[in-house]
Amino acid sequence: MTGKATVNGTAELPEGGTGVFAPPSRFRLPWLSAVDARVDGSKLPKDMVLSVRDLSVAYRVRRGMVQAVRKVSFDLRRGETLALIGESGSGKTTLALALVRLLVRAAKITDGTVVYQRDGHAVDVLRVGSDALRHYRWNECAMVFQSALNALNPVLRVRDQFIDVARAHGMTNRAAAVERTLELLKLVQLDADRVAGSYPHELSGGMRQRVLIAMGLLLDPQVIILDEPTTALDILTQRTVIDLLRRLKDERQFALILVSHDLALAAELADLVATVYAGRIVECGSVKDVFYRPNHPYTVGLLNAVPTLSGDFRQLDSVRGQPPDLIDLPRGCAFRPRCPFGTDECEREDPQLVSVVPGGPATPGTGSHTAACFHASEVATSFSRHIRTEQLAEVVSPDGSAERAAT
Ligand SMILES: Nc1ncnc2c1ncn2[C@@H]1O[C@H](COP(=O)(O)OP(=O)(O)OP(=O)(O)O)[C@@H](O)[C@H]1O
Ligand code: SF4
Ligand SMILES: [Mg+2]
Repeated sequence: MTGKATVNGTAELPEGGTGVFAPPSRFRLPWLSAVDARVDGSKLPKDMVLSVRDLSVAYRVRRGMVQAVRKVSFDLRRGETLALIGESGSGKTTLALALVRLLVRAAKITDGTVVYQRDGHAVDVLRVGSDALRHYRWNECAMVFQSALNALNPVLRVRDQFIDVARAHGMTNRAAAVERTLELLKLVQLDADRVAGSYPHELSGGMRQRVLIAMGLLLDPQVIILDEPTTALDILTQRTVIDLLRRLKDERQFALILVSHDLALAAELADLVATVYAGRIVECGSVKDVFYRPNHPYTVGLLNAVPTLSGDFRQLDSVRGQPPDLIDLPRGCAFRPRCPFGTDECEREDPQLVSVVPGGPATPGTGSHTAACFHASEVATSFSRHIRTEQLAEVVSPDGSAERAAT
């Protein structure tokens, strides 16, 4: 299913760009060279935009601390897309919110650094003051939230919401902000005049989702975080949003962090995939490595749980058991109670994320394939023996263009 799908109230994507993305340098304050949370970026590759190390977040609740994100590290380069996959409650949204410091009061970042780099300047986002933080959000890193309806203000027309964001970030010229709003709405294939003058409840779910994507692009950020961008959309609208994201990404070369349950979406849009379990990245690598050669039993479980059009319903396996209590995690590997490969060793020790390629880099990011499992090679061998080739081909390449799984 390819091509330009259009739905009610939407317009064709303009060909050849709109000019809307002329660099809005006048809105980009020289904040990176001014703030006091600068870090030495000389060792970072020039195209690195985010370098996250040991990020940990906990929510304080009556029973104790919910360890929602545990020692997460990854690198992200310009133009790259990282998909965070994992079942509900694994900590994906908390991780995404921590990257823009938009966590609720009950949450505390207990450890780690989030280094953001642009134009040779690098800062630790977790240490910047409130003015710099305001600038970082939207100008440098925009987040599109999980629920499109809740993320928009119900009592403001779309146009006014764009103007508010623009004004809060230094675009004081109302006419320019309106012009930019209309161009962005066109860019995301919406009937710009109609949508700009509408209240959120007058728009469909897919239209609201595209409004939020347009808003995320308002200040031309270097990083965009999309939390479940296609959940709750019908299949045609999902296709429109996916095609749109792919095109915007190619045109703009922003880095994208995509949070999704949807493995097919991850396979289509991502360069890197990170499997998140109980607040930790337990496997990370290129789409091909993670989906064709998974080394963690949890990734295998997620892949086996994907329904296909041609597959027999009875062949589907879910990941058996329940996710652990994040307040009282099991000793050793958190996946042990659900793992078909577990041994005594797994109960004694928590496996670290290491390269599955001997001598390879152990930080999730470009070029590495890592997994946190004592029996990773056994998992990989077993998967390749039992691989459901047809199912994977559908997961990894809904349009049929990718190679079949290597066995
Ligand atoms: N405000 C909160 N207070 C206490 N615990 C919270 C809060 N928000 C999230 N949590 C807990 O943190 C853990 C991670 O939640 P999070 O929303 O990040 O998961 P998720 O992977 O995004 O799930 P989903 O796929 O359902 O969106 C869960 O155990 C959740 O119960
Ligand atoms: S370390 Fe052990 S329990 Fe954990 S995922 Fe690997 S095999 Fe399973
Ligand atoms: Mg979530």
